[in-house]
Amino acid sequence: MPHAGIRRHLRHGMLPQLAVFEAAARLGSFTRAAESLHLAQPTVSTQIRKLSETLELPLFEQIGRKVHLTPAGAALYEGCQELFSAFERIEDRLSGLRGVEGGRLRLAVSTTGKYFAPRLLARFVEQHPKVEVSLQIHNRQGLIDRFVRNEDDLYVFANPPTECELVSQPILPNPLVVFARADHPLAGQRRIPMSAIADEPFLMREQGSGTRLVAHEAFDRAGLQPNIRMELSTNEAIKQAILAGLGISILSRYTLGLDSDPSQLVVLDVEGFPIERRWQFVYPVGKQVSPTARAFMDLVRNEAKTLVQDHLP
Ligand code: PGA
Repeated sequence: MPHAGIRRHLRHGMLPQLAVFEAAARLGSFTRAAESLHLAQPTVSTQIRKLSETLELPLFEQIGRKVHLTPAGAALYEGCQELFSAFERIEDRLSGLRGVEGGRLRLAVSTTGKYFAPRLLARFVEQHPKVEVSLQIHNRQGLIDRFVRNEDDLYVFANPPTECELVSQPILPNPLVVFARADHPLAGQRRIPMSAIADEPFLMREQGSGTRLVAHEAFDRAGLQPNIRMELSTNEAIKQAILAGLGISILSRYTLGLDSDPSQLVVLDVEGFPIERRWQFVYPVGKQVSPTARAFMDLVRNEAKTLVQDHLP
């Protein structure tokens, strides 16, 4: 029998009210909470007012147009996060018992992974139409943050974190190459020394990117500094900047996309390239990998070559 003091928390409707409260606290706005939960804004206000009445404490205060958590709101928000992660754990265990079909797959991949992950997921969903699938795309640091918070079932890294205890399984080779526009003076030259690359205006990915780490390592190995013209936060923006004549860059070969016409971008023949990395499935040591996630890993092991690698231009 639950302690009498927590009975107010077990009232009918409490959980939906907490879900509304959590969204409003996280997003800092009733309007945005309403949008994210597909509710009308008055519903959000009513649910939060009822919650506040049940708990006999104010949860938000409005200063100007912004809402802020009161100390009671902050304590409740912390509790909500614990409560919802307990539900996540329950759901993980139950979905394990439901087997592959009743399960869900939350996959998080790094930015270049977006060029191939949808193809693998499409095949998976074809075979398991009832599985609920979500795909998150972040740079390396974004993925590490999610990994540490255990927010997904499975991660695809090109450069897994070295500071975390993890299990990894190779998926596909991920060659990193030097891209230039087809009319660049270095295009067509053989065995270009790294010093010539260091002289060119270079387009660098943002802080937190694994591609950026690899590019810096390549210049460091040669004892050189890149001549950074611009920092850009997506591979796609770098591709467009190369095409606009702003410079050259080191990117995953997958940035070209699959089955696409690469005629305007060329891969330069640079000494020490391609840099061979591997896409890897990664999950924390000790994680209970669900049957659904295992089934996806099996599919990728068997089909990644024919579905993805053979289509690389
Ligand atoms: P990123 O991806 O450059 O988007 O961070 C590569 C990686 O996983 O390290």
